Amino acid sequence: MSAIEQAVITWIHLVAAAIWVGGSLFIGIVFSPLLKTMADSMQERMQIMIRVGRRFNKVAVPSLIILMITGLYSSHTLLGKPEFLFSTSYGAFLIIKIILVIALIITYTVHVRVIRKDIEDKIMSNQMPENQIQKLRKKIIILGEITVVLSIAILFFAALLDAGV
Ligand code: HEM
Repeated sequence: MSAIEQAVITWIHLVAAAIWVGGSLFIGIVFSPLLKTMADSMQERMQIMIRVGRRFNKVAVPSLIILMITGLYSSHTLLGKPEFLFSTSYGAFLIIKIILVIALIITYTVHVRVIRKDIEDKIMSNQMPENQIQKLRKKIIILGEITVVLSIAILFFAALLDAGV
């Protein structure tokens, strides 16, 4: 790969990472606390959060896919060399990063799937009892927090790779 080609791939990888991590942190740190002051009932809060989440998904999922494509493209030659992967710290960090990405995809998928279409319809039409919403909300919050923590951990491994530790 030429230097300019590598730079463009890294640039796309970085833009996608900024959208993915920045977007989820914005929802977690800025939007969620604000939501408490924007809606009176738990029902209403969930309705707003579902709409924000669905909208964010439209950019977040493509960003995650782009991250995987550009990341795998940058490392495809190394990934084909087991002797390098298993004998250098760079190889070990890359493997750990990929495992964390797989864990991230699983957690994020469950996080989104908790609100299936029928459940979403129930919440949107105010037909779900408050205690059931409360339970659902707890599950979603924990999964969302794991997603953010995993993303930040992935950034740490990206930094280790970049520094050539
Ligand atoms: C299958 C998924 C992924 C693979 C294979 C991958 C692979 C890579 C590689 C090979 C690098 C270059 C490191 C170097 O400088 O030597 C890199 C950099 C980076 N990655 Fe990923 N990555 C993936 C997913 C992600 C995700 C999900 C994020 C964000 C949460 C992310 C964020 C970054 C960042 C911020 C850099 C730093 C760019 C740099 O300074 O080189 N990556 N990645």
